[in-house]
Amino acid sequence: MLGKKLKENFFVANIEPSSRSQEVEFIQGDTILEALLRADVEINNSCGGGASCGTCRVRIRMNRPDSVQPDLPSEIEQEFREERSFAEDERLSCQTLAKKGLEIFVPRFRA
Ligand code: FES
Repeated sequence: MLGKKLKENFFVANIEPSSRSQEVEFIQGDTILEALLRADVEINNSCGGGASCGTCRVRIRMNRPDSVQPDLPSEIEQEFREERSFAEDERLSCQTLAKKGLEIFVPRFRA
């Protein structure tokens, strides 16, 4: 899927641990979590987007030529990332706006 150009307002979700991936459409201003849920991608979000549980953690890569850089983390998200020792490419999907061409790695859904 890397070689194919994405339409405007789409990113790619890779569902782990399978190698399944799908293109996800978003509306400008959507968080990644909102877009994933609208596309019926199962992702944990125990606090409903309140930046307090960390279960919506995803990894974000920009390996595509059409990838748009995500915004920097807010102060609240950055504090959370530091407390939980997030890797450089890990973000709270409920706090990160969707951008074109991102590759999002979504961990296995745990009910
Ligand atoms: S849904 Fe709880 S931190 Fe994102």
